[in-house]
Amino acid sequence: MNRFASIVLAMTILAGCAGRREPAADAAGSTAVDIHSYARPVEARVTHVELDLTADFEARRLAGTATLDIAREAGADSVVLDVKTLEIEAVTTPDGHPLPYAFGPEDPILGRALAVKLPDGVDRIVIRYATSPDAAAVQWLEPAQTAGKRRPFLFTQGQAILTRTWIPTQDSPGIRQTYSARIVVPEGLRAVMSAEMLTPDGEPVEGRRGVRAYRFRMSEPIPPYLIALAIGELEFREVGPRTGVYAEPPAIEAAAAEFAELEEMLAAAERLYGPYRWGRYDVLVLPPSFPFGGMENPRLTFATPTVLAGDRSLISLVAHELAHSWSGNLVTNATWSDFWLNEGFTSYIENRIMEELRGPEYAAMLRVIARQDLLAAFEELGGPDAPDTRLHIDLAGRDPDDGMTSVPYDKGAAFLRTIELAAGRERFDAFLRDYFDRHAFQPMTTEGFLRELNQNLIRGDEALAAAIRAEEWVYGTGLPSNAPEERSEAFAKVDAQVQAFHDGAPISSLQTDGWSTHEWLHFLRGLDGTYDAERLRALDARFRLTQTGNSEILFEWLRIAIRNRYEPALPALDRFLVSQGRRKFLRPLYADLIATDWGRPIAEDIYRRARPGYHAVSRATIDELLGVRG
Ligand code: BES
Ligand code: ZN
Repeated sequence: MNRFASIVLAMTILAGCAGRREPAADAAGSTAVDIHSYARPVEARVTHVELDLTADFEARRLAGTATLDIAREAGADSVVLDVKTLEIEAVTTPDGHPLPYAFGPEDPILGRALAVKLPDGVDRIVIRYATSPDAAAVQWLEPAQTAGKRRPFLFTQGQAILTRTWIPTQDSPGIRQTYSARIVVPEGLRAVMSAEMLTPDGEPVEGRRGVRAYRFRMSEPIPPYLIALAIGELEFREVGPRTGVYAEPPAIEAAAAEFAELEEMLAAAERLYGPYRWGRYDVLVLPPSFPFGGMENPRLTFATPTVLAGDRSLISLVAHELAHSWSGNLVTNATWSDFWLNEGFTSYIENRIMEELRGPEYAAMLRVIARQDLLAAFEELGGPDAPDTRLHIDLAGRDPDDGMTSVPYDKGAAFLRTIELAAGRERFDAFLRDYFDRHAFQPMTTEGFLRELNQNLIRGDEALAAAIRAEEWVYGTGLPSNAPEERSEAFAKVDAQVQAFHDGAPISSLQTDGWSTHEWLHFLRGLDGTYDAERLRALDARFRLTQTGNSEILFEWLRIAIRNRYEPALPALDRFLVSQGRRKFLRPLYADLIATDWGRPIAEDIYRRARPGYHAVSRATIDELLGVRG
């Protein structure tokens, strides 16, 4: 591109980015502006992404091409994409004619706009590019960081706005795209994606030795944050006709046993909310640095290995990711301020699925725990009046990650439970089924949902509207006073044992027979006082808490240990923080440690050793917490 043209193009981009933001059409009738994307979808939008990438584990780069199909309005002469830390080599037409392009200014959160000029008749562009070795969406793992210890591993994480660090596209949840991919990987490794696998065993690549190619296709339009890839030494085990698990060989047995109920879970979800629209449902168990519990990549949930408790006691996490097949993947938050539409609905559905699988008492326990999490989140956010305790939150100038608290999850689910109790389960279920059906494969805004609620459930019933108080739930802070009280009979019995512990009862007299994981979690959360080492030692000796293989129980126990400076648990704490990178576990443990002069040096010492193994997402969180320069 000549100099003059590039300056003119750059100015056009800047004009577009600084002021006008085009709304994305929303089926609920309103319009949404995604402040976290440079795209101007009303002018030109990406409809399909075709990837042809080679994974280079030495250089830590994915390199190749992204071919984008563009739908544009008459008169639109360019398309604006989102990119961050991408090395763009060339932009051409499919037959190789160079297309002019220019970048907008770099924003530390959003990255840059990439504007490509579209001559008349051009509706497909080819971008030749490579990812940077430190692309936030891509974690490259050394063999030592895997279960097998023999081969390297790679996985991507797109949500919320990281896809732009590995794919040059319009990275906005309201801009749905189908995709196809060809991924070339070293021999002996397998590639899997959130898509139909066209070549389960891969295929040779002509003229190249030591590599194999895997091809994929996602024929349903999905938000770009759901495009996902993993590469590693992976085995597959079927657990049902539509369901299965992928894991590294040392973990495959445990994974298949833990997730043996996938098919039942899927059937339960379909009974509640209508047909599963994605074909297969598989779960991929990742290496321990995966920063989340789970990620709902379509057809292929990505999951932390810390969910493998050995007794299926933590599978509500999979129920959660499966639930996203309706809330999130079918009906998608239009912007990251509407995140609660994804996570609140999903947490509610997760609970309904678990009620189907384990019964009402089990579901009640999960809700009590969720309520405790929510109240704790309010405290962390500065109290129940804090702005971020709203369901619809203001993210202007902020990273969408800031909104990832317990609020969208647990306050969102409590809101839907309030509606369920007010309208009756039967009516609410029918409303939700219809809602998913009519808005399938479309974005949804908070206002759009409120309108749906009014038009299709409340329908002018003033008593019902007054029982729900929807506006207060969505736009108000804290927990509205009509929130249902959550109680569990089983937990009431646990409370009696917490009381006994506090009254000084001998450890051997505590009645814990038959306790499930969640009763243990409730018990440990109840031990929020200060205890001397002898008392904790006796508790630990009796119940082998430091040795537990259940990550959630260990986490609660380690929090008690830190608060009480119980040193015998320190080696286990060290091991836990170094050997896994799930942010939900890391953040509170490091935060507890640095709250005291005693713990801060311990945190710093552990973090120095653990940090290289953490994912960028967890590293960013803990860097900020400990005041470490990135
Ligand atoms: N979609 C989320 C994970 C996520 C959210 C990643 C926002 C990046 C940005 C996923 O469904 C989730 O909520 N996972 C939870 C587990 C769940 C059981 C609450 C997690 O990872 O802790
Ligand atoms: Zn979720």
